[in-house]
Amino acid sequence: MNADAPDRHARAAQLGEMRRASRPIVMVTAYDVAGARAAEAAAVDVVLVGDSAANVVLGYATTREVSLDEMLMLTRAVRRGVRTALLVGDLPFGTYEASDAQAVATARRFVDDAGCDAVKLEGAGEMASRVRAVIAAGIPVMGHVGLLPQGARVPDELRAKGRSAQDARRIVLDAVELDRAGCFAIVIEAIAAPVAELVTQRVGVPTIGIGAGRGVNGQVLVFHDILGMADAPGPRFVRRFAEVGGAMRDGLAAFADAVRTGAFPGPEHTYGITADELDQLRALLGD
Ligand code: KIV
Repeated sequence: MNADAPDRHARAAQLGEMRRASRPIVMVTAYDVAGARAAEAAAVDVVLVGDSAANVVLGYATTREVSLDEMLMLTRAVRRGVRTALLVGDLPFGTYEASDAQAVATARRFVDDAGCDAVKLEGAGEMASRVRAVIAAGIPVMGHVGLLPQGARVPDELRAKGRSAQDARRIVLDAVELDRAGCFAIVIEAIAAPVAELVTQRVGVPTIGIGAGRGVNGQVLVFHDILGMADAPGPRFVRRFAEVGGAMRDGLAAFADAVRTGAFPGPEHTYGITADELDQLRALLGD
């Protein structure tokens, strides 16, 4: 499914209707077709192919390390599993900041080569110009303020933002700037709940929080965090809604055990051949 520009903008604008109707927006990340199908089955509103793939799928220390080609490959896989949710691709570090032309070219790859409905990028200031250029090219843009993971050179730099009045003011102004630049929604990451609520009051588009409390229009969490697939508990804002990691480890241990003890495969997992065909085969092989 690859919509044209007016369709893409209309689909993205539906999130604004949800905000006006006070219907919470549900967004999850996904990185492969199985995750995409699970998200579809849960009827989420938005699937984000986040650059958090760098950490949870590819094993890099920071999101700065994932490449455009890696993101596009994952996004194409997700596209094959997403039918109704809005599909948003996360522009990776180093692929949009340099110029408006670079941002447009990268966003086009996500739409034309990977079938996205929209893209997300981090930051305001100069990035507001990137947002305007990408929108002018017919591609809806989701903004991202507060903690900007692409700014972290090492994982220790991933800390909550906006703890002082001055920093919090900067975040509010960033969000207002992205709203004015035309973003159809804004992710707010890891800031105090009252500040996120102020942001939500001051912008006209939906806010989607991750570690931003309840005074926002929707919530997003990383797939692996929701499902408890990581060994570490994760940041304060994570709630594990399942313990899939434990189930995966148990299942794999049971498989290894069954192979080693000869309990697997059983006759029910095995293909047969008639005695006659087997005799002929032996004869053909000269046995
Ligand atoms: O990359 C990502 O997963 C994100 C979300 C956490 C918003 O940007």
